[in-house]
Amino acid sequence: MSYEKEISRRRTFAIISHPDAGKTTLTEKLLLFGGAIQVAGAVKSNKIKKHATSDFMEIERQRGISVATSVMSFEYKDALINLLDTPGHKDFAEDTYRTLTAVDSVILVIDSVNGVEEQTRKLMEVCRMRDTPVIVFINKLDRDGKYPFDLLDEIEKELNISLHPLSWPINMGREFKGVYNLYDKSLQLFTPSQKATEDNTVPITDIHDALLSEKVGQRDAKQLREDVELLEGVYGELDTSAYLQAKVAPVFFGSAVNNFGVKELLDTFIRIAPEPQGRDTDKRHVEPNEDKFTGFIFKIHANLDPRHRDRIAFLRVCSGKFGRNVFYHHTRLDKDVRFSNPYSFLAREKDVIEEAYPGDVIGLFDTGNFKIGDTLTQGEQLQFTGIPTFSPELFKELVNKDPMKTKQLEKGIMQLTDEGVAQLFTQHGGIRKIIGCVGDLQFEVIQYRLLQEYGASCAFVPLAFYKACWITGDKKAIDDFVRFKQGNVMEDKDGNLVYLAQSEWFLNTERKNNPGIEFHFTSEFKTAMEK
Ligand code: G4P
Repeated sequence: MSYEKEISRRRTFAIISHPDAGKTTLTEKLLLFGGAIQVAGAVKSNKIKKHATSDFMEIERQRGISVATSVMSFEYKDALINLLDTPGHKDFAEDTYRTLTAVDSVILVIDSVNGVEEQTRKLMEVCRMRDTPVIVFINKLDRDGKYPFDLLDEIEKELNISLHPLSWPINMGREFKGVYNLYDKSLQLFTPSQKATEDNTVPITDIHDALLSEKVGQRDAKQLREDVELLEGVYGELDTSAYLQAKVAPVFFGSAVNNFGVKELLDTFIRIAPEPQGRDTDKRHVEPNEDKFTGFIFKIHANLDPRHRDRIAFLRVCSGKFGRNVFYHHTRLDKDVRFSNPYSFLAREKDVIEEAYPGDVIGLFDTGNFKIGDTLTQGEQLQFTGIPTFSPELFKELVNKDPMKTKQLEKGIMQLTDEGVAQLFTQHGGIRKIIGCVGDLQFEVIQYRLLQEYGASCAFVPLAFYKACWITGDKKAIDDFVRFKQGNVMEDKDGNLVYLAQSEWFLNTERKNNPGIEFHFTSEFKTAMEK
């Protein structure tokens, strides 16, 4: 197969949702279609539902499995699909945000009963930052949910995106009869079923076909015709380029658990979803079909075996062909590295691969060389951008409980923060260490892993900070600010100055009082300034 064809048949995406909307169920059904798994129930391992350490420990024990399900690659028709898993638990949201930097599009699952929820909003904001194209799957139509028109309204308003329905439900809950496919004007009748292969497409030619009334009854057929007339009048044809520019999100209705509406979603997805896209770097835009290989690390996963500190770094190939045992340039460390056992994640099992193409994600064994955002090239000195660190929401001071293990603690906290588990801030001109996380669960994870993997015990003292802002400005303004605000100014791991604000009020006041200083909410201010 030609190099261009290999690229254009790839679809790299993630499924995102508020917990419980049906992400795992939908993932599983997609994998069934792709022949990647044979039975339902195989994709449960990566879930942490309750806010309890014990759940996480259980997951830790299953790390081997969760690495394997981090990326699921499978073939469907002519397409090669790379589905990147994202953690369901909100405390791991930062991990999800980073994974979204490595995809070209997303499928957003919304529960028809609950509509737009808190995580839905946050995830959508992240998609908007990068103009990631979104397809919406409204799930659980077999339950009595909100009315479809109300749902569309709510999603458009709350998520601030234009929608374009491509299917339309006939009733919902116990009265749910199926969906009408607005794109190819076919009708799928609903029968509760868990099987992947069942096809209940009714061969009607259009919405006025008499077979429609026969199948769904006079009343529902009339209602559907009215709805469809309205929808066609309002929406017309889907403008695929508007979808690709993330201006319009196509919408499907279905019931993942009943495997209903999933095939239509998948068929449309491979047809319209973007092929691997170019990426920005600090120097230039990189296109996938360039000759030379480039890629970046977006996730680092610690290995299970506590005797080895090996980690697996996940690299997204951005351009060129990646080859096994070839030397590549690690641009941050300015050194050449090669990999003898790169993984692919073809769903059957982890395979050592010889080559990988743009859009692919590969797993590289790492003994501590990688940080999130690191770039590999064939020599060119560039750094991929758009993989920012966001301000944490919770801050705690790290207290060493075992002075004999200070070195281990230092090393452990450096490595864990390289993985992106949390952010480390060190007091400017001092030694206090503050850890910032998105959720409480991460502190428990750090404490547990420091002890298990590094033999270091620590405690955390909660601090009443609200946000971390990276600060830049002219030297005098910064020096004055640092002097007056000593207790609130920290350094991140790269030595950048960070202001920790106690509250929104403090932050606003400081911004007003210090016009010479810029307060940035993500770590990517440098590239923002250079642009
Ligand atoms: P998540 O990954 O987004 O957190 O959601 P998940 O797929 O685990 O789904 C959450 C719950 O919703 C599960 O039930 C699942 O079976 C159910 N579900 C998913 N799709 C549908 C659907 O189309 N209709 C209905 N009625 N339910 C659906 P659970 O009881 O939490 O777990 P389980 O015991 O069924 O696995």
